[in-house]
Amino acid sequence: MDDSVSWRLSDMANGMERSRILSIAASVRAMIASGEAVTPFTVGDFSPSQFEVPSHLTEAIVESVLGGETNYPPAAGLPELRDALSNWMSVRYGVDVGSEGIIVGSGARPVLYASFRLFLEPGDGLAHGVPAWNNHYYVHLNGAIDIPIQGTPESRFLPTAADIQSRIEDIRVLILNSPLNPTGTCFTRNELKDICDVVMAENERRKISGRKPVILVYDQVYSTMTADGIDHVHPVQVCPDIFDYTITLDAISKSLTGTGLRLGWMAIPPPMAPPVVALIGHMGAWPARPIQSAAAKLYSNTALLEEYFEDLDKRIEDRMSILKNRLGAMRNFGVNYVEPEGGIYLSTQFDLFKILGCNTNEEIRTWLLEEAGVAVVPFQAFGLEADTGWFRISIGAVSVEDIVAAMDRLDSALKIATAHEHDA
Ligand SMILES: Cc1ncc(COP(=O)(O)O)c(C=O)c1O
Repeated sequence: MDDSVSWRLSDMANGMERSRILSIAASVRAMIASGEAVTPFTVGDFSPSQFEVPSHLTEAIVESVLGGETNYPPAAGLPELRDALSNWMSVRYGVDVGSEGIIVGSGARPVLYASFRLFLEPGDGLAHGVPAWNNHYYVHLNGAIDIPIQGTPESRFLPTAADIQSRIEDIRVLILNSPLNPTGTCFTRNELKDICDVVMAENERRKISGRKPVILVYDQVYSTMTADGIDHVHPVQVCPDIFDYTITLDAISKSLTGTGLRLGWMAIPPPMAPPVVALIGHMGAWPARPIQSAAAKLYSNTALLEEYFEDLDKRIEDRMSILKNRLGAMRNFGVNYVEPEGGIYLSTQFDLFKILGCNTNEEIRTWLLEEAGVAVVPFQAFGLEADTGWFRISIGAVSVEDIVAAMDRLDSALKIATAHEHDA
């Protein structure tokens, strides 16, 4: 940035980075608009033509607007919505914060930001898995110390209890996300229990020393989307005592494929709720009244909701099974993936360094885009800096036919590249 601009801005503003995922997605959109055959496996968004939100929700939104529900909602959210969400979370996940422990925001992001502001002083340690979605931006916004806990293909890219244990003394806030964006993997009961035990043991020590405890922020925005045979697990289900130290984040952005409707929420032990309500109020980051009123109706009708979730899981599985099949058939070229367990993502390795004679993920990404029309996001955008050939594939904006066409192009491009490698 030009000095005359940076001179006027705060250090925080000067250090602000744009989302790398959104930058890649914007360039892919431009290619598609200019008529190129590119399949957008890039954004964590949904194409409304592939994944529509429940019609009950849209009808109730229209009804609410026509009924004149256009004034400010209360800062914490409409009481009927807080009631409905609190019941739903209590029945589905065993998280019982009552309606006063539910605070809504315009998507998961404002409540995510609020949960960091609630606990972090500048210089406090914010620990998160790597790869993971956007945590490094929040480290910067809070002046926190970054504590990345690196996952490996063996840990399905999830942070492990042993690695968290090795940094636990430095941690004030630990954020976990399951199902994980970008990897599509989920904690098992045992994995999560081991992590909770590490946190609880540290908090017992801090009770004696008087140091502030470790807070667990559990981001479960993909919790309703799980593959066959996989259960989403919440920390209080495996470690009830962690309730007092846990903030849960959720949203309809992914679970109802309504990213543009902007409704998320936090579930927090009620005594800690008042400052969050104040912060959301000061930011004006509450969701519009009509979406709140419509969601209150839908979340009171759990049978309808479950039916929607089940159908959505099937549509995700249709796409994942083709991807797995086709990518699996490309193993000889150096293509590999981690079995998807939840969410809308597939961790895929394009180990094409030798075939293409290149050294970086960026070169592979460009080749996939230009030669095969396959647009993916490298794990560098999620904090994993090593050039290991790992990428995120998202299925939110593609049809089954789009996937087949993309895999056909990829297969041909790989065959041509291998033939050249042998010629060389
Ligand atoms: C893990 C995770 N948490 C939170 C969010 C933010 O969701 P929202 O769009 O509701 O702000 C996203 C969005 O991609 C996400 O992947």
